[in-house]
Order: sequence, then structure tokens, then C-alpha cells
Amino acid sequence: DDLQHISSVLTDWYKKNKRDLPWRNIHDPYRIWISEIILQQTRVAQGYDYYLKFTQQFPDVQSLANAPEDEVLKCWQGLGYYSRARNLQAAAKRIMAQHNGKFPSNYDDILALKGIGEYTAAAISSFAFKQPYAVVDGNVFRFLSRYFGIDSPIDSGAGKKQFAKLAGLLLDKLQPDLHNQAIMEFGALQCTPTGPDCMNCPLETSCFAKEQGKISDLPVKEKK
Ligand code: ADE
Repeated sequence: DDLQHISSVLTDWYKKNKRDLPWRNIHDPYRIWISEIILQQTRVAQGYDYYLKFTQQFPDVQSLANAPEDEVLKCWQGLGYYSRARNLQAAAKRIMAQHNGKFPSNYDDILALKGIGEYTAAAISSFAFKQPYAVVDGNVFRFLSRYFGIDSPIDSGAGKKQFAKLAGLLLDKLQPDLHNQAIMEFGALQCTPTGPDCMNCPLETSCFAKEQGKISDLPVKEKK
């Protein structure tokens, strides 16, 4: 299958199967940022209420930047990994100081903010600004490794490079927001870590891992 076809299968699947989540179908980079930081180490079911509470208490960059730190941490209580909350506030202060309080739209400016790595920068750039950056998270590693039969370790430098390159080739540059949401949701709901729903998969007949009986061998990790 050519890559464009695969992307369109994923986006069609997404339109029919996506979860309705409060950080979807919005384009406010601030809210997208908050949701992605929460979801880094937290499941959707748990992160959901925290996202609503956090964005209600701190609805924009300015309110987060100006809040007392203990209020930010209190709002985060129960989520763990408190450095995430501290980094959020540090980044908000930097956006106030260096970007006049306006969330930057430039990928490198986004990446330079505390607590934001390549995944989060790509998520914000594509979801909020429709810029053609491919997200590569655990869901994407899993889908790509299985569908294309890539056994490079996802936690090796060479593996990461290979997956990032393929994710970039597969990306629909005309609708990177839709494509990125679709491939992640596909990994989260359809091509799951254990017990993927191959019977109902729209890509089953062209999936390498399914064909070769290697679903449970992929993705490969170097370190256990
Ligand atoms: N996990 C990380 N980012 C997500 C998103 N935007 N939607 C659902 N789950 C996610």
C-alpha cells in the first residue's frame, strides 16, 4: 500500500472511532500543551478531570505564569511527577517574558520551552497550528513497527531516527492535525499493546506483523 492510502485509512478509521475528548477539535496551543503534558505520564481516564480542573483554574498562559507556585502544585496533586507542573509554570513565565504572553507558533521556539520535547512540540505544532510535524509516541512506534515490520529497538538512537523518518513520510502534510490524532488514536484503541483487534482492523490484510505472526514480538525494546 502506498503511504498516502495508509494515512487515509487511518483518518477514515479515526473519524468513525475516535473518543470525544475535551482537548480535541480545539486549536488553542495553551490547552493542547496542558493536555499533552498531563497525558505524558497519565492515562486519559485519569487525566481528563485534571485537564478540566487545571484549564478552569488557569485558563491561559498569563494566569498560569502569575499564579503562586503552591496553587499550581495543589491543582496537580495526585497526578505525580510534579516537575511537570513546575516546568509548565516556568515555560508560561518564559512565554510572558519572551513572546509577549502569546504562545509561540514556531516549532523551535516551542521545543525550547521547559518540559517540551520533540513529541510535545510536534503535537502542539500540528494540532494548534497545522504545521507538518509528525508525532512519534508509544502508540506510533507500535503501529509502525507492526505494520511495516520494523524490528529496530524503539529505545535506540538508530531506531528512533528510523521511526521518526517513516512517521514523517507517512504524515499527511495537508492535514497533519487530523493525521497525527488518527495514528495515535489508532495505536491507543485498535493496535493495542496486547490483544490488538486485528479482526476489525482496516489494515489487517497488509500488516506485516499480522501476516508473519509477529504481533507480540513488535515493537522491539533494547532495554527491559
Ligand atoms: N495521549 C497523548 N496525547 C493524546 C491525545 N491528544 N489524545 C489522546 N491520548 C493522548
